[in-house]
Amino acid sequence: MKNGKITWGVLGAGGILNRWIKGAMQVSGSEIAAVASRTRESAEAAARTYGIPEALSYEELLARGDIDAVYVAVPHTAHRDLALAAMRAGKAVLVEKPACVTAEDWDLLAACAKQEDVFLMEAVWTRFFPLIPEVARIIDSGEIGEVRMLQSAFSFRVGEGATAETTRLLDPDRAGGGLLDVGVYNLHFAEMILGGKPEAVTGLSALRREDGTVFTSGSAGANACCEGDPGESGDISHGSQPSRLVDDLAGYVAGYKGGALAVMTSGVGANIPDTATIFGTLGRIVMPVFWKPTSAEIISPAGTRTIARPVPQRVPGIEDEGYQFEIEHVNDCLREGIKESPVMTWEKTRQVLETCDELRRSWGLLYPFEEAD
Ligand SMILES: NC(=O)c1ccc[n+]([C@@H]2O[C@H](COP(=O)([O-])OP(=O)(O)OC[C@H]3O[C@@H](n4cnc5c(N)ncnc54)[C@H](OP(=O)(O)O)[C@@H]3O)[C@@H](O)[C@H]2O)c1
Repeated sequence: MKNGKITWGVLGAGGILNRWIKGAMQVSGSEIAAVASRTRESAEAAARTYGIPEALSYEELLARGDIDAVYVAVPHTAHRDLALAAMRAGKAVLVEKPACVTAEDWDLLAACAKQEDVFLMEAVWTRFFPLIPEVARIIDSGEIGEVRMLQSAFSFRVGEGATAETTRLLDPDRAGGGLLDVGVYNLHFAEMILGGKPEAVTGLSALRREDGTVFTSGSAGANACCEGDPGESGDISHGSQPSRLVDDLAGYVAGYKGGALAVMTSGVGANIPDTATIFGTLGRIVMPVFWKPTSAEIISPAGTRTIARPVPQRVPGIEDEGYQFEIEHVNDCLREGIKESPVMTWEKTRQVLETCDELRRSWGLLYPFEEAD
């Protein structure tokens, strides 16, 4: 870091880079010096497209002494090892969501960050939108009464004809499915509004086989797991040929301290409006596109009003969806020498991954690379 200027390197040149970089371009006081990808061709194409000075291999980028921080933007299954390598090379790490596939993997990352004394944060950009503290203030004011329930959904349908080969979202080898890709937004949002780790969680999933057929799976109630599936005992991932499944759709409920419930939906099998509604004893707050929230409708005894906090666009012609907020936060942490974000803490990341572990276990959804217990 020179005169407070943060130099970033990007690890991964896939779909998300196109969006994140528009946020990075809005931020002053930092620059992107290099992009790396698994293949040289992808890195070079991204460097050309986004005007990034250098296209490197992961190893070359991590060996660069002038790079302070890296953004890990590769499929979920590659997060852990790249983030570990980056921290061991002394880099601050912003790792895409889900930070890891399991809570156990996240523990390795947090331990490494401590040992190497470097910054580490999961890129849950939702947490940094200016609307979030505003909504928290409204809740704390008591205007909607005591918060009792939260409903949220984040689900879209992958394109017709897509397969495990053509998208990571349907690929069990790349930890595909809805929960880890978009369901984590539900769980992070519930943590933000209701606080802490859920006291209990339960749910059902429609698991998708590679031929596109789906079946219901879950541990709740009398009609438990996996009816009609080859593993009718629920033992669908054990043995020498684990089932190759992803969660196509899922509905789950988490209970928080004081009896507040979060009712959540996620998936890659259906388009569902991605709205969150926070229900209090006196009113409610409705937040469209809650995972990148810029407006909220408040319905309370005082009346109905809408508040809007649009994303500032400082660079003409570049439309940032709101990634600038998390990037600015990381830059601020680095300038202050903070190693763990006070907003997106290591424990919060752990809690969400632990809940995902629990849900996947109850659905019998283990990925092929995971060892059955
Ligand atoms: N925050 C958000 O709004 C948001 C939105 C979308 C995605 N994401 C997250 O961002 C991450 C990346 O998503 P994406 O859609 O950009 O994925 P993607 O398009 O599949 O990413 C491909 C990139 O990762 C590299 N790569 C692929 N497999 C790899 C491996 N095994 N080891 C190392 N590098 C590998 C590719 O290299 P080559 O091309 O050289 O093979 C390419 O650079 C995901 O974890 C996702 O959850 C976040």
